[in-house]
Amino acid sequence: MSSIASSSTPKRAKPAATALRTHLAGALSRADVGREVRLGGWVHRRRDLGGLVFVDLRDRAGLVQLSCNPAWTPSEVMARAAGLGAETVVLARGTVELRPEPSRDPALGSREVELHVSGLEIVGPAQTPPIPVARKEKEDLPAEELRLRHRVLDLRRPELQRNLHLRHRLMQATRRYFDQLGFLEIETPILTKPTPEGARDYLVPSRVHRGEFFALPQSPQLYKQLLMVAGLDRYFQIARCFRDEDLRADRQPEFTQIDIEASFVGVEDVLGFGEGMVEALWSEAGITVETPIERMRYADAMERFGSDKPDLRFGLEIFDATEVLRPADFSITRSAIAAGGRVRGIRVPGGASLTRKQVDEIEAAAKSLGAAGLLRLKRSGGALEGGLAKHLPPGAESSLGLADGDLCLLVAGPDHVSSPALDRVRHEVARRLDLIPEGGNRFVWIVDFPLFERDPVSGALAPVNHPFTAPHPEDLALLDSAPERVRALAYDMVLNGTELGGGSLRIADPRLQSRIFGLLGIASEVAEQRFGFLLEGLRAGAPPHGGFAFGMDRIVMLLSNADSLRDVIAFPKTTAQRALFEGAPSPVDPADLAELNLEIKQEEKRESGTVK
Ligand code: AMO
Repeated sequence: MSSIASSSTPKRAKPAATALRTHLAGALSRADVGREVRLGGWVHRRRDLGGLVFVDLRDRAGLVQLSCNPAWTPSEVMARAAGLGAETVVLARGTVELRPEPSRDPALGSREVELHVSGLEIVGPAQTPPIPVARKEKEDLPAEELRLRHRVLDLRRPELQRNLHLRHRLMQATRRYFDQLGFLEIETPILTKPTPEGARDYLVPSRVHRGEFFALPQSPQLYKQLLMVAGLDRYFQIARCFRDEDLRADRQPEFTQIDIEASFVGVEDVLGFGEGMVEALWSEAGITVETPIERMRYADAMERFGSDKPDLRFGLEIFDATEVLRPADFSITRSAIAAGGRVRGIRVPGGASLTRKQVDEIEAAAKSLGAAGLLRLKRSGGALEGGLAKHLPPGAESSLGLADGDLCLLVAGPDHVSSPALDRVRHEVARRLDLIPEGGNRFVWIVDFPLFERDPVSGALAPVNHPFTAPHPEDLALLDSAPERVRALAYDMVLNGTELGGGSLRIADPRLQSRIFGLLGIASEVAEQRFGFLLEGLRAGAPPHGGFAFGMDRIVMLLSNADSLRDVIAFPKTTAQRALFEGAPSPVDPADLAELNLEIKQEEKRESGTVK
C-alpha cells in the first residue's frame, strides 16, 4: 500500500482526496486529462481482449475504465489485472487519458476518459460474489430474499447507492428547512412508556426492574407535546419509530418520521410548515410543487373517491345512483337500499372495451374487500347490456348518462363496504385502461377528519387519529350527544393515493383530554396509569400546540422511483419481519432470559435458524 499512498496527501484538501487516493473514479472528467491520479474502488467488470485488460472500477461516484496495456502497464501489473475477480478492492495509479472512442455501455454513462494504468494493488480480495453487482438497471435482479441475505453486496448496486445518497440529501434539506424556521432538533427516548398509534408495541424487558418493560416508541407523540409544555416552542426530529404490525408494501416495522411540533399555532401555520417542507424536499429532487396544496374535506374524499387517500391523477369519481335505482325491480339493489345502504358506482368512459375477464378480475378485487359483487351496465352499439339493464326503471337510462362505449360499475350496500370496494375498483380500472399519467404529482390535504369512528360490531368509539387530537371547537357540543359527528382538527397529506404524513392540533386542556379518554372507554385510573405523565404535563400549563409527522421512507421511495421501502432503507426487514442479512430476530441464550426473569413456553419455542 505504501507504494501508492503518499504521506504528503493534504488531509482536508478535497473531500475525495485521502491518504490512499487523489480522486474519485466516477468523477474524473476531460479536465483531468494528463493528470497522474490514484484511485480506490471495486472491480465492477473485467474484460480481456488479446493481451489488453480493461477493468471498470467502481466507487461512490461511479465508474471509470482502467486500461491496462503493455505499452504503459508493467508486465507484473498486467498479470495482476488479468487475474482480478469481480468485487475485489484495488488501488490503481496511472494517467487520465481521453478514451479512444466514447463508451457505448450505458452502465458506464458517457465517460470520456479512462485511466492508463501504471500501478495496481489488491487491497481487498473478494470471494466470488453470490449475487451480481454489475448488471443493467431494473433487469435480471436475483430474488429479493437472496439480495436481502447478501445486503452488503446488493447495496453496492448503483441504484441503491443513488437512493441512499438521495435519502441523505433529503435529510439534510429537512434539517436546513426546519432550522431556518427556528425549530430545535431534539432527540426523544427510544426506551419509552407505550404511546398508542394503533399498532402493537415492541417491548423491551428491564433487567433491573424485573417484570417491567419499556416500549420502543411508535412515534415521539407524547414527548413532543411535553416539549411544548416545557416551553421549547418548536421541535423537530428525524425520528425512528417502531410498530409491530402486519407489514404491507408501504410499511416497515422500523421506519423514520420527519416529526415536528410547534406552540401557539393554528391549523394554517402547521399546514404551511408542511407545504414548505414538501416544496423544499421535492425541489431537492428537482421537482417544483405547486402551492397552496389543494384541500379536500374527509367527507368529500370518502364520497367522491371512497378513500381518505384519494388518487387524483385520474377521474372515475364515484356517484350515487341510489335514487335513480330505488324503483328498480332488482333484488340486489332493492335489499341493499331497504337495509339503509346505497348504490354507488363509477362511470368508465370507453370502459366497454374492457373484456369480461378483466371486469371479472376487477369484481374479484372488490369482493376481496367485502363487496357482494359488482353490478355492470355497458352501452355498446346503442343498447344497454348487463344484468341490471332489463330492470332499469323508466328514466334511469338517461340519468345514468352512459354514452356509447361507456361502462358503469356499481356496488350496492352500506358505505363502509362500498367505499373501499369502489376505491379499489377505481384503481383497478385506471391501471387496466392506462389512465394514470406518468410523472403527474397530485398532492392534496385531507382535512376535517372525524375525531372518532365506531366499531361496526362492538359499537365502541375509537380515535380516527390518536386520542390527543383536538376536537373542532364548533363541534364541542356534540361530544356527548353525537360523538361520531365531531370533526377533528386533523389533516393528512396525500400524494397520488399514498399518505405521506399527517398531524393535528392537540388537546392542551387536561380536563378535555380526560373527557376524551372517558369517551374512548378508558377508565380514569387507567388513563392516569398510562398517560398520567401527559396529564400532569398539561396540568402544568400547556400552550396551544400542534404538529405533524411525515414518513421519510415513503418520501424517499417516491422521489427515487423505488419499487419498495426496502430499496431506500440500508438494512430493511422483510414482509415476514425478518432481517435476513443479520439474521434477526434470533433466539437468546436461556441464561440471558433467566437474568430477565423470562422463560419461553416450550410449545412456542421456534427452531433456531428457521426463516419465516
Ligand atoms: P401516523 O401514525 O399517521 O402519525 O404516522 C405518520 C406517517 O408515518 C409514516 N408511517 C410509516 N412509514 C413506514 N412504515 C410504517 N409502518 C409507517 N407507519 C407510519 C406514514 C404516516 O403518514 N404521531 C402522529 C403524527 C402527529 O400527529 O404528529 C403519527 O405518528 O407516512
